[in-house]
Amino acid sequence: MGRNDIDTKKDSRHENNCENCHGEMYDFRELDDIIMQAKVIKGNLIIILQEAQRIYGYLPREVINRISEKTGHTTAEIYGVATFYAQFRLKPIGKHLIMLCQGTACHVSGAQQIEKAIKEELEIEDGETTEDMLFTLNNVACLGCCSLAPVMMIKTGEEEETHGKLTPEKTVEIIKELRLLEEQGTENEREAV
Ligand code: FES
Repeated sequence: MGRNDIDTKKDSRHENNCENCHGEMYDFRELDDIIMQAKVIKGNLIIILQEAQRIYGYLPREVINRISEKTGHTTAEIYGVATFYAQFRLKPIGKHLIMLCQGTACHVSGAQQIEKAIKEELEIEDGETTEDMLFTLNNVACLGCCSLAPVMMIKTGEEEETHGKLTPEKTVEIIKELRLLEEQGTENEREAV
């Protein structure tokens, strides 16, 4: 189990405090614009939370507080909605979000073995993030490409890649490749300094 962060969240933070920032380093300008626009839409709280999650990667306490201030909803109401819907995350996620399909076609094609392989490789459970802040595992419902079962989708920032016809070995290979790319990236960054 561990913690994580994603690029979109980092991009949405300031290094320095400013009048648009609240608490530490969150930049609320885009969020404030969205709240302004969403105020006239029915069911706006869900839309605001979806957009907030898109901006920050998850729903940090500071963001919930800001939404409360700007919309008049109490934080209890907002947490009520955020915890009711599975789509919302209250904790940061890894750079690579592994969405493993547990739909019927994938289930009968061996999704459980794939899940076991991922858990063993990353030493995390469903919903958890690795200590190195690289991977989060989420079991999800049908991803809509059942002919490729068993399937996982890996979301990295705005990019999504679907991997089908998985075997435990193939799955571990994909994860190892991603980890290797990350290590090479870190190495290149070090050399560039
Ligand atoms: S059941 Fe897995 S993609 Fe449909």
